[in-house]
Amino acid sequence: MHFYTAAVVLLMLALCLEAGKCPRVCSCDSTKLTVTCLGKNLTEVPPSLDEITVKLDLRNNNLQVLPRGAFVLTPYLTHLNLQRCNIIKVTEGAFRTLGRVVSLNLAYNKIDILYQESFDGLSSLKELHLDHNRVEEVQPGAFSQLGFLNMLTLTHNQLVYIPNMAFQGLHNVKWLRLSHNSLNNLAPEAFAGLFTLSRLNLDHNELQFFPTQTMTRPREVTRLDISHNPMTYLGEESVSMAKLTHLYLDHMSLQDLSDKALSRAPLLSHLDLSHNQLRYLEPLSGPKELTTLNLTGNPVYCNCYMQPLRGWATVGGVKLLGACAGPPHLSDEPLQAVATMDLRCRSRVEAMKEMLEEEDESTDGSPPTAKPKQKVKCPVNCDCDVTQHATCEGQGHTKVPRGFPSKTQLLDLRSNHFHYLPANSFPGTSQVVSLHLEFCKIHEIEAGAFRAMQNLFYLYLSDNDLTSLDPGAFSGIPELTYLHLEGNRLAQLPGSALAVLPNLFVIHLERNVISKLEPAGLLSSATPKLRELYLTNNTISTIAKGALDSSFLGILHLDSNQLTEVPTSALSQAPNLEELNLSHNSIRWVGQNAFLSVSQSLKRLFLDQMGMEKMSNDALAGLGPGLRALTVRGNQLEQLPDLSPLTGLEMVDLQDNPLLCDCPMLPLRRWMENVSLEVIASCGHPPELKGKMVREVSVFTSCPESSSPPSEAVTVDPRPSNLKKPKPRLSKASRVKLRPVKSKDKLAKSSKNQPRKKPVAPKKTKKKIL
Ligand SMILES: *[C@@H]1O[C@H](CO)[C@@H](O)[C@H](O)[C@H]1NC(C)=O
Ligand SMILES: *[C@@H]1O[C@H](CO)[C@@H](O)[C@H](O)[C@H]1NC(C)=O
Ligand SMILES: *[C@@H]1O[C@H](CO)[C@@H](O)[C@H](O)[C@H]1NC(C)=O
Ligand SMILES: *[C@@H]1O[C@H](CO)[C@@H](O)[C@H](O)[C@H]1NC(C)=O
Ligand SMILES: *[C@@H]1O[C@H](CO)[C@@H](O)[C@H](O)[C@H]1NC(C)=O
Repeated sequence: MHFYTAAVVLLMLALCLEAGKCPRVCSCDSTKLTVTCLGKNLTEVPPSLDEITVKLDLRNNNLQVLPRGAFVLTPYLTHLNLQRCNIIKVTEGAFRTLGRVVSLNLAYNKIDILYQESFDGLSSLKELHLDHNRVEEVQPGAFSQLGFLNMLTLTHNQLVYIPNMAFQGLHNVKWLRLSHNSLNNLAPEAFAGLFTLSRLNLDHNELQFFPTQTMTRPREVTRLDISHNPMTYLGEESVSMAKLTHLYLDHMSLQDLSDKALSRAPLLSHLDLSHNQLRYLEPLSGPKELTTLNLTGNPVYCNCYMQPLRGWATVGGVKLLGACAGPPHLSDEPLQAVATMDLRCRSRVEAMKEMLEEEDESTDGSPPTAKPKQKVKCPVNCDCDVTQHATCEGQGHTKVPRGFPSKTQLLDLRSNHFHYLPANSFPGTSQVVSLHLEFCKIHEIEAGAFRAMQNLFYLYLSDNDLTSLDPGAFSGIPELTYLHLEGNRLAQLPGSALAVLPNLFVIHLERNVISKLEPAGLLSSATPKLRELYLTNNTISTIAKGALDSSFLGILHLDSNQLTEVPTSALSQAPNLEELNLSHNSIRWVGQNAFLSVSQSLKRLFLDQMGMEKMSNDALAGLGPGLRALTVRGNQLEQLPDLSPLTGLEMVDLQDNPLLCDCPMLPLRRWMENVSLEVIASCGHPPELKGKMVREVSVFTSCPESSSPPSEAVTVDPRPSNLKKPKPRLSKASRVKLRPVKSKDKLAKSSKNQPRKKPVAPKKTKKKIL
């Protein structure tokens, strides 16, 4: 053993003496056998890697396509990190020679298809990270050779459907993460063969139903997170999972849950139903070991209908989390603290009244948790189903049909020919959460048109012919949170119409003909929660001071307008702005302190294609580690302000500017060498350097020493002889000084340390998306 170790050490030493064994752009640690080549725009795996390398870190490069046998020269690898390498395709057999790799990280690339043999040869692999790609297709057998894999991460991709046997071959997988995709359908055998799977994440997808049959297959699953999906109810025996102990069903749109929904999950101990729309819940039959039932954030109505649940929880030792939403004398009372005897209906009439409010048109008097009726009424030329969706899309209706089931939650009327919506157009639709009226040629909406829709949360009026809005157009829909008005012909911000929407959170006004933003046009005190304002592609040329005053506004898109300057004074009272898009305006000059008033909050700033000729040296004054993304692509800039305070950048785009490559640019060049980001910038002047990459030109090597910073973080070789060489040889110091990419945790901490406290945005973003 010792001999062997000694031999390896000797071999290593021998190899280290060989100059070529550490690729020029990498740093190598020959004792740990690691090679790191971060952010070097490498287009291929460096060919001169040492064969005995065990850890290879190639983050932030530009590999694009991983060819077959890409790693044939490094058969001893155990850890391979290929994050953010701009990988589009993993050719079949790319990893075939890597039988020892235990961890492979392919996150943050652009992979769209996982081919049948993409991962062949990775017979020891334990962890595979594929999060933040564009995966939309998993071919059968893609994972069939990964018999030792423990964890597979596929979050933040574009999966819509999981076919049968997609994960075949993962005989040892324990944890499968499919969060943040667009899954709306799982084949019945999608998870077949996963006999060891104990944890499954399906949260933040588009599942409208609990995938009952699919979930019976991975029979060892103990934890299932399926939260943040747009499910509206769970019927009898929906969850049939023999070993399940923890189930997360929070942040959905559940209005109804059968008392027998969990009757086939006998071992369930934790059930999270927080942030749904449940007003009542019956005792749950099935789980005998339940210890926690989380009802936080539901509009639980604490009257006699809640008595059975309260009693059952007391007897069974189930801890109820959450509070009563009503009646008034019990509101905010923790469920756990309410005595059973306080849960009463004071009189029969009152109970009826409460119930009628809840049930709207239903007249059968059954308790509010009754299951949806199987037979549903429905207007002609429309489809209604038991899932509370009704659609009459593209049926040539000229009037809004009437007579939808009273429990309808999603009403899709797009592509009809309504032209005009009279008052009270939607009677008996008080449960509708989402209403689609796109492409309906609507040019006028009468006051009170939506009056009955007290629960309306999403309203889609995109691509109609609206030129203005009646001040009462949106009255009676106080819950409205997302409003789509893009693609109309509005010439002004419809301020007075919006003043009746206190919960408005996001408004889309792209592709209208708005030319001015005036004070209190929109961000009046009447829309205090407005967080995202999209005004792309209007004709805005002036923004008055006061027009953007809002302590809540977080995202503002003003791109593709006719602004000629940064609206600095208008931004002075928007202290929580995080994202600002000004691309495609004609702002030729950005003066000092242009973003100072939003500098504490701003995280993303887009200034592309504006014909910008100059940025003052203090244009970005105040911006610091909080800024994550900055783009100034496609302008006419010859110089850039100092970017070195922007130490938190994760994305920067300086391309297509005619930069003047001379000594004043030295700080930029040094900064580029210093960051672990790929920074692409090219010279436009002087003529002999035109088109050359700033990174590559050697003119800086002759700049006077005086312009170097006092610290010796980076040294640029001052020898004039270097001028003649085609490429500057970077000094060893600058190569080794690479900073590791900051971890998420650190970023989170550093942003916590920011002085200003921001109000927390309501977590409504995905709730109820139907
Ligand atoms: C209950 O739900 C709330 C809101 O989702 C959450 O903050 C809390 O941690 C949950 N409590 C438990 C014990 O799971
Ligand atoms: C702006 O609108 C025009 C015409 O509708 C369209 O061609 C263009 O793509 C839009 N631009 C953006 C950025 O949406
Ligand atoms: C900013 O605006 C430009 C121009 O309309 C657009 O191409 C780009 O996608 C926008 N960026 C973001 C992050 O929305
Ligand atoms: C290079 O990075 C180090 C460490 O983050 C920092 O202290 C130094 O100021 C940077 N130098 C330049 C020129 O940006
Ligand atoms: C990165 O590589 C690509 C492809 O080889 C090349 O077009 C681009 O100019 C390179 N960028 C830099 C900064 O070297």
